Amino acid sequence: MLKPKDRLFVALDVDDLHAADVLINRMQGVVSQYKLGAQLLAAAGPEAVRHLKRRGYGVFYDAKFHDIPNTVEAAVKNACRLGVTIVNVHTTGGTAMMAAAAAAAREVARKLRQPKTMVLGVTVLTSLSQGVVNKELCLRRQLRSYVVHLAKLAQKAGLDGVVASPMEIEAIRKACGRDFIILTPGIRPAGSDQGDQKRTMTPKQAIAAGANFIVVGRPVYQASDPLQVVRSIYREIEEAE
Ligand code: C5P
Repeated sequence: MLKPKDRLFVALDVDDLHAADVLINRMQGVVSQYKLGAQLLAAAGPEAVRHLKRRGYGVFYDAKFHDIPNTVEAAVKNACRLGVTIVNVHTTGGTAMMAAAAAAAREVARKLRQPKTMVLGVTVLTSLSQGVVNKELCLRRQLRSYVVHLAKLAQKAGLDGVVASPMEIEAIRKACGRDFIILTPGIRPAGSDQGDQKRTMTPKQAIAAGANFIVVGRPVYQASDPLQVVRSIYREIEEAE
């Protein structure tokens, strides 16, 4: 069974490597995995990943690739070569694109003889509400059943799992089985700000509902005492197991 520290990725949503280091140093020895997304990657690129790997951290490369299969395949290969634990693509890129991403990860692991990077599919962003999905994206379906549909598509295409809001964990688990990975952002420890996230749960609720991994950003890095927040997240994970 995974330890609580292996189930949390702290989002390093900062502007440069110096700011990242300030945060990492504060949480040294307590946090072992970080999520790198658009903000830091657009500033520091793959060097940000190498920097974290050199310091011994597990990395979730939150690329959210969404492009034609050929381009995504090549991009996933490059991400996997960096030795990241997780990379993601959008499920709405379609089955062929997801299958190309899955094959790319398998090929790099085999050729470089390194652990296979998990490839996850982003379903529907946790910042989107049912109302927005209906009105702006013209999707009449219930969000939950749409997310389950996308998760099944991802599974069929050979992805290891999906990124979904906590609200959909139980339905995905039921539809895709216990070996399918579910990673969930939109986590808010009790008493913290929602920010722009619409479909949230506490760490304890998300783990109890069946999430394998959780991603937490602002509630940790905006806290006056991030270490205390991380420790309380670990306690919540333990309580839920
Ligand atoms: O600050 P907060 O805890 O809301 O951060 C959540 C992180 O997870 C952000 O870095 C965001 O980009 C990411 N994320 C998300 N929803 C997804 C996938 C990733 O919020 N579907």
